[in-house]
Amino acid sequence: MLKILITGAGGQLGRELHVLKAAYPNWEFRAAGRADLDIADASAVQQVFEAFQPDYCLNTAAYTAVDRAEEETDQAFAINAAGAENIAKVCLAHGTRLFHYSTDYVYKDGIGRPLREDDPTAPAGVYAASKLEGDQRVLAALSTATVIRTSWVYSSFGHNFVKTMLRLGQERDQLRVVFDQIGTPTYARHLAVATLSVIEQIESGKTQSADVAGVFHYSNEGVCSWYDFARAIFELTGISCDVSPIESSEYPTPAKRPSFSVLNKAKFKTATGQTIPHWREALQECLQELGYLEQQD
Ligand SMILES: NC(=O)c1ccc[n+]([C@@H]2O[C@H](COP(=O)([O-])OP(=O)(O)OC[C@H]3O[C@@H](n4cnc5c(N)ncnc54)[C@H](OP(=O)(O)O)[C@@H]3O)[C@@H](O)[C@H]2O)c1
Repeated sequence: MLKILITGAGGQLGRELHVLKAAYPNWEFRAAGRADLDIADASAVQQVFEAFQPDYCLNTAAYTAVDRAEEETDQAFAINAAGAENIAKVCLAHGTRLFHYSTDYVYKDGIGRPLREDDPTAPAGVYAASKLEGDQRVLAALSTATVIRTSWVYSSFGHNFVKTMLRLGQERDQLRVVFDQIGTPTYARHLAVATLSVIEQIESGKTQSADVAGVFHYSNEGVCSWYDFARAIFELTGISCDVSPIESSEYPTPAKRPSFSVLNKAKFKTATGQTIPHWREALQECLQELGYLEQQD
């Protein structure tokens, strides 16, 4: 039986991956939350791998508090850089195939067109820098790893922009949302489906493992600002809340966000043959999951 280890299993992506196990009755999933496996603890990582002997590891564990990372630099690097490397080294030792997740924040801002995997990096904050170092350490330790850089992740699980807007939209008549940060939202369910489909493709021989080694991008299709995204949330749910566009300078945050971080996903689509849903369809699906819209078959 194929064995799949999910790290960071209490997070948005980790939970979405675990939910999908029902679709793979012949695979054994082990969902390790932070309390079960601290990826910053190399000996704990080793113990879990020795006990479970996974064929695949999906490393969704990460320090994701983007603003707090500006103060907690050591912790961010211990998890996102050293922790990611711990996982990659143990994968190498056990012959485990690794999927590791990263972020659009690693790139130089201002390129002004959808970003490619080989575009220059220049992380603006601690979180972004720690994630970039993680990607580099993972690939240096394990060249067969798949590093998937994603953006603006949300889910029916955990805390995210969609759930914050749903709450605020019902508490207030008006909201101000930035319109000068452009990117693409990613429904974690879709990234989870895409990941497990790649594993299926590798196992069936449809995709060669070597073709999905290295850095890839995955987000939903399309482009929007956070303002557009907020408007879509209210339009689709019928929540009546006025949204005004503001500049990032009117909503300062400790860590700077990129102004344009749309990811070009051509490399992923070519390597896997997968199609990716548009962000509006994805949002609709998540809102259905949250019970805001009728479920559609
Ligand atoms: N969320 C986004 O908008 C976004 C955007 C781009 C890329 N990404 C990347 O996508 C991946 C998945 O993100 P996500 O949205 O699912 O994040 P998330 O919801 O914050 O989940 C991350 C999980 O990792 C756990 N964790 C933290 N430190 C750990 C450690 N030392 N050992 C084991 N687990 C640990 C967290 O537990 P605690 O909650 O207990 O700390 C949390 O359950 C991450 O690599 C992230 O960097 C996310």
